[in-house]
Amino acid sequence: MTSMTASIANFTFNDILLNAAGVYCQTDEELDQILKADGAGSLVTKSATPIERAGNPGVRYADMPLGSINSMGLPNLGLDYYLDYTIKHQSEKPLFLSIAGLSKADNLNMLKEIQASDFNGLVELNLSCPNVPGKPQTGYDFETTAQILEEAFAFFDKPLGVKLPPYFDIAHFDMIAKILNQFPLAFVNTINSIGNAMMVDPETDTAMIAPKGGFGGIGGAIAKPTALANVRALRQRLNPEIKIIGTGGVKTGRDVYDLILCGADLVSVGTTLHQEGPQVFGRLKQELADEMSKKNYTDVTDFRGQLQTLA
Ligand code: SIN
Repeated sequence: MTSMTASIANFTFNDILLNAAGVYCQTDEELDQILKADGAGSLVTKSATPIERAGNPGVRYADMPLGSINSMGLPNLGLDYYLDYTIKHQSEKPLFLSIAGLSKADNLNMLKEIQASDFNGLVELNLSCPNVPGKPQTGYDFETTAQILEEAFAFFDKPLGVKLPPYFDIAHFDMIAKILNQFPLAFVNTINSIGNAMMVDPETDTAMIAPKGGFGGIGGAIAKPTALANVRALRQRLNPEIKIIGTGGVKTGRDVYDLILCGADLVSVGTTLHQEGPQVFGRLKQELADEMSKKNYTDVTDFRGQLQTLA
């Protein structure tokens, strides 16, 4: 019998996989499929803005060799929609409600609404959407990130975590961890897509997606080394109470295993879920179990965070 559980704040997850925000989580119908999927221990709703948003126009997602590129621009049905959904289903599994305000005021106002509501799950504050024209990723602005968290924790006392952009410099791992460690965060989710990349369609010699002149976030297999590095670097630096959701580059059970080895508690799946649908969770769970049995592990705690380095 293989045990694949995790805990964040006061919640126990009976499976460690979930969707990445943005994939299969915009409508009730999509969310229901994740809620019921074999192998999924939770779900996260599409990052909400205070009111419904259409997102960016034109072709805004494309598969590419080794992954995907997107510039969705936060299409979503508004906070109340996702608050209603999560409140309705929160007794079934621990759930994540994701929010992504376009300003500090938006984020604080949404947190106030959630604080006053019957929602009793976990909130993911998305500080890392790369796809809203004219709005830089907050997670790259350390001062503003600290300010938002300072103001949020002055009143918000439900379990709160942040979705981070990928960092690429050891100094930046140190800087963001120092800020995050000052707050009673329940978790961090790392990484969002690798923002503002470019991919060319060789048939047409055009950019593969339309918004922002073709610049978009990349995910899928190509993002795996960056995801592993961010999970590992943050696990080495964050207070142990701050749990980690590892996101990026999961195609197989071995990819899930590697994120756990680097320190992930839960693992979320984006591009591969988009490509295969919710049955991907059952496949990944079985492949992870196979990988664990090759190593004679029966519990994810046997290897979580146990990555060895070379002398
Ligand atoms: C999007 O809607 O553009 C993706 C959301 C995100 O990357 O946070």
